[in-house]
Amino acid sequence: MGEFCLKEGMFLFVSSLVLICGAAEQDYFVHDSGGRTWDKARSYCQVCYKDLATVTPANIKTIAQNLTAVSWIGLRRNFSDAGSSSASWSRWADGERLLFQNWYPGWPVFQKNVCYCNCPTTATTTRFTPFTQFTSLNAPSSAEFPNATSFAEFPNATSFAEFPNATGSAEFPTVVGPTMTSFGEPALPGGTECVLSPDPAGNYVEDSCVAMLSFGAWVERSCSERLSFVCYEDRFPGRVEVTEVTSESAVLTWLPVPNISHSRVEVKVHGNVTQNVTNLLTLDLVGLTAGSLHTVQVFPVKCGRDMHPQQTAFYTKPNKVVDLVVADVTEACVKLNWSKPAGNVDIYHVKFGGASIRNKTEGSEVCNLTPGSPYTFFVLSGVEDNSIWSDESNVTTYTRPGKVSHLNVTQNTHSSLLLAWERPAGHTTGFGVTAATDSDRVLFNETVTQEKVNVTSLPPGTKITLNVTALTAGGKLEGETVTVVSYTTPTPVSDLVLRTTSNTLNASWNSANGDTFDVELWLDGELVGPIYSVSTAEKPFVGLKAAANYAVRVSAVTGHLRSLPKEASAFTKLLPPTDARLRSADKHQITFEWSAPENIAKVNYTVRLYSTFWGQDWSHAENETFHTFDGLKSGTNYGFEVRTVANGAESDPAVASNYTVAVKKEISLSMMCSSAQSLLCDKQSTRDSVFNELNTHFRELLGDSVVWKLVKQEN
Ligand SMILES: *[C@@H]1O[C@H](CO)[C@@H](O)[C@H](O)[C@H]1NC(C)=O
Ligand SMILES: *[C@@H]1O[C@H](CO)[C@@H](O)[C@H](O)[C@H]1NC(C)=O
Ligand SMILES: *[C@@H]1O[C@H](CO)[C@@H](O)[C@H](O)[C@H]1NC(C)=O
Ligand SMILES: *[C@@H]1O[C@H](CO)[C@@H](O)[C@H](O)[C@H]1NC(C)=O
Ligand SMILES: *[C@@H]1O[C@H](CO)[C@@H](O)[C@H](O)[C@H]1NC(C)=O
Ligand SMILES: *[C@@H]1O[C@H](CO)[C@@H](O)[C@H](O)[C@H]1NC(C)=O
Ligand SMILES: *[C@@H]1O[C@H](CO)[C@@H](O)[C@H](O)[C@H]1NC(C)=O
Ligand SMILES: *[C@@H]1O[C@H](CO)[C@@H](O)[C@H](O)[C@H]1NC(C)=O
Ligand SMILES: *[C@@H]1O[C@H](CO)[C@@H](O)[C@H](O)[C@H]1NC(C)=O
Ligand SMILES: *[C@@H]1O[C@H](CO)[C@@H](O)[C@H](O)[C@H]1NC(C)=O
Ligand SMILES: *[C@@H]1O[C@H](CO)[C@@H](O)[C@H](O)[C@H]1NC(C)=O
Ligand SMILES: *[C@@H]1O[C@H](CO)[C@@H](O)[C@H](O)[C@H]1NC(C)=O
Repeated sequence: MGEFCLKEGMFLFVSSLVLICGAAEQDYFVHDSGGRTWDKARSYCQVCYKDLATVTPANIKTIAQNLTAVSWIGLRRNFSDAGSSSASWSRWADGERLLFQNWYPGWPVFQKNVCYCNCPTTATTTRFTPFTQFTSLNAPSSAEFPNATSFAEFPNATSFAEFPNATGSAEFPTVVGPTMTSFGEPALPGGTECVLSPDPAGNYVEDSCVAMLSFGAWVERSCSERLSFVCYEDRFPGRVEVTEVTSESAVLTWLPVPNISHSRVEVKVHGNVTQNVTNLLTLDLVGLTAGSLHTVQVFPVKCGRDMHPQQTAFYTKPNKVVDLVVADVTEACVKLNWSKPAGNVDIYHVKFGGASIRNKTEGSEVCNLTPGSPYTFFVLSGVEDNSIWSDESNVTTYTRPGKVSHLNVTQNTHSSLLLAWERPAGHTTGFGVTAATDSDRVLFNETVTQEKVNVTSLPPGTKITLNVTALTAGGKLEGETVTVVSYTTPTPVSDLVLRTTSNTLNASWNSANGDTFDVELWLDGELVGPIYSVSTAEKPFVGLKAAANYAVRVSAVTGHLRSLPKEASAFTKLLPPTDARLRSADKHQITFEWSAPENIAKVNYTVRLYSTFWGQDWSHAENETFHTFDGLKSGTNYGFEVRTVANGAESDPAVASNYTVAVKKEISLSMMCSSAQSLLCDKQSTRDSVFNELNTHFRELLGDSVVWKLVKQEN
C-alpha cells in the first residue's frame, strides 16, 4: 500500500498549484443493479463502505473505466447537513474540498447571477485555456500558450487584454464558474461585453446532484433520480502478525476493523484452513505442514462482503534432518548423508568450524579440511527465503590422517632396524608400525608416538616389509599406509673350505641366510679379479698360479646388506719339476739335472739320492736345476728324486736313476761237486743247474743295485 502523491491544479480560478499527498489506498465499488436516489445511495455507501466516491485526477480513470451507466458520485450542489455558510459545489460527500472538476461542456447550469459571455467566437474567447493538463477531459486547444505550466506565470493578470495574441477558436464556456466574480467584470478587448442571461437551454436543475457519465464527464441530475452509484472504501492498513511459529503451529494476531460483522480467516497452503471468527483478534493455528509457506488473509466482513484483507505469509519451521551419517571420510573431505524430514524442505545448510555451505540435495561433500582432525557438522533444513531454519542435527567425525613421508631405514643389524619418518600435515595421535616377512609373517606390530622406532627381534638376513600408518581419533582412524622394504644384515657364512689343485681353487661354505654371496679372491694382499656375486654356496676359481697362497673372503648378502666376511686361505698345489735326467757320472760322483715346472717363477727344490742297497740316502736343498752328489760308491745304481718346494710344501717328485762308473774286480768262487749218485757231477746239465741257482741267488741278493756279473769257468 504505497502513498500516492498527485498534483491537482485547479482549472481557471485557482491561483496556485496544490500538492496533495494521501496515505491511504482506496477501492471503488460500482453498484449498477437497482438504482437509488443520491441520498439512499450515499447511506448505503456509508453503511457498507466509506461513502460515495470522491473523484480526483488520480482515480477518475479507475472509476470511469468501470462505469456502464451514469452513476452518482459524492458531489452535490448543496449539502443539507453542511454548514450554512458552505458555498455551492465546495465539498465532497466525505468532506473533502472540491479541488478538481470535470464537467461535461455546458455544466453546471446556473439559473441566476450567472455570467454567460455571449461573445462572438473571436480570437479572444479562449485565452484562459492553457492549463489543459489539469482539465484534460474537455480542454480545447492550448496552442496559444504551449509553454505555460502554471497559472502562476500570470500572477498579475487583471484583464484578458493582457493576452492579446490568443487566437484559439474554442468556445468560451469553460471559463465560467461560481468564482468567476472574483475577477470582477472582465473587460473584453474590442469593446465586447459580457451579458447575463438566463439558462438558454433550460438545463437548470433545482436539486442538483452530480453524476458521472460512463466516459467520465460530470453532469447534474436531480438528486431524487434513481441511478447507479459508485462507493469507495479506504483500504484498512493493518497487517496480520505471526508469532510462536513452530513446525506445526503458529499464532495470528490482527488489528481490529470498526463496524464489521465478523472476520473470516483464510490460511492457504497445501490444505485450506478457513475459519469465521467474531470479536477475536487472534487465532491459534495448529496442524500445519512443516517447512511450508502459509499465506494468511483476514477478511473483515461487512454487509456480507469481504473487505480488503489484512494479510501476511510465513513459513512454518522445517523439521530437522534425520539419519545424519558420515558416508565417507578422506584426508581433506567428509561426505555427509541425511534424509529429508517430514514436511517440506527447500534447502539444507551445513555448518562446521566457522564455514558453511548450502545445497538442495540430501547430502553434501565438505572439503578443504585439515587431515586427522575432529569436526562436528551441523545440518539444518531451511525454506526457500531462508526466513526460518530447523533445529540442528549434528554428527562428529575425524578426517583421515595424512600419510607419513620420508620413511627411512638406517642402522640395519642382523636383528634390528631403525625406522624414521616425518609427520604428515594435520593432526595425528600416533603411528602404527608393522614389520613382516615376504611370506606375511608379522614380526613387529606396535603403536608409537615418536617419528622413529627401533624395530627389533627380526631374523637375520631377511627381507623385511615395514608399514607405517598415521593414526588419529585415539588410533581408530588410519591414514594411508606407507611401505618401505629393507633387510636385516645376514650372519657370516660358516665352514668355509678351500680345495686346491695346482691351478684351481674351489671354495665352499654353509650359510643359514643370505640370498647371494659376495666372494673375493686375494693373493699377496691384492684382490684378484672382481668381487664375484654367486647364489650357490660355492665358487670355483680356475687358471690360478701354482704354489700361490690364495685367500678367499665370503660375505652373505641380502638386499644391499653384507654380512661380516669369512676368510680362509690355501696354497695351490706345486708342480713337480720335469725331465729329471743324468747329466754326468763317474766313480764317486753323479750329477742329475731337471727342468723347472711351467708357470712358476722362482722356486726351490729338494733333491734326494739314495741307494737302498748301501743304505745310503741324502737330501739337499737346491735352487738350481741340477745337483751333483759326491762321495758315492762306484758301480752303484742310485735313485734320484727332485721336488719343487714352496712355502714348506713339496711337490710330487720327478725321478731318475743311474749308475756310478764301476771299478770292476774279479772274485773267484770255487765250487767242488760231489754226489752220491755216480757221474752226476760229470753231467753238464747238473753243472748248469747249479750255476743257475747261484745266479738266481745273486740276482736276489744284488738285483740292479750294483754292477755285477757272474761268469762260469770250468776247469
Ligand atoms: C473494472 O475494470 C477493470 C478493467 O477494465 C476490471 O479488471 C475490473 O474487474 C473492473 N472492476 C469492477 C468492480 O467492475
Ligand atoms: C516553447 O517550447 C518549444 C519547445 O519546447 C520551443 O521551441 C519554443 O521556442 C518555446 N516558446 C517560447 C515562447 O518559449
Ligand atoms: C505583480 O504585482 C506585484 C505587486 O503589485 C509586483 O510587486 C510584481 O512585480 C508584479 N509581478 C509581475 C511579474 O509583474
Ligand atoms: C502580440 O503580437 C504582436 C505582433 O504579432 C507582437 O508584437 C507582440 O509582442 C505580441 N504580444 C505578446 C504579449 O505576445
Ligand atoms: C482451498 O479453498 C479454495 C477456495 O475456498 C478452493 O478453491 C480450493 O479448492 C481449496 N483447496 C483445498 C486443497 O481444499
Ligand atoms: C463463515 O460465515 C459465512 C456467512 O457469514 C458462511 O457462509 C461461511 O460458510 C462461514 N465459513 C466457515 C468456515 O464457517
Ligand atoms: C550440491 O551437492 C551436489 C551433489 O553433492 C554437488 O554436485 C553440488 O556442487 C552442490 N552444490 C553446492 C552449491 O554446494
Ligand atoms: C548433537 O546432537 C545431540 C543429540 O542428537 C546433542 O545431545 C548434542 O548436544 C549435540 N551436540 C552439539 C555440539 O550440539
Ligand atoms: C630420509 O632420506 C631422505 C633422502 O635420503 C632425506 O631427505 C630425509 O630427510 C630422510 N628422512 C628422515 C625422516 O630421516
Ligand atoms: C596389530 O595389532 C593390532 C592390535 O594390537 C591388530 O588389530 C592388528 O591387526 C595387528 N596388525 C597386524 C598386521 O597383525
Ligand atoms: C635397537 O635395538 C637393538 C636390540 O635391542 C639394539 O642392539 C640396537 O642398538 C638398537 N638400535 C638403536 C638405533 O637404538
Ligand atoms: C603393509 O602394507 C601393504 C600395502 O599397503 C599391505 O598389502 C600389507 O598387508 C601391509 N602389511 C602389514 C603387515 O600390515
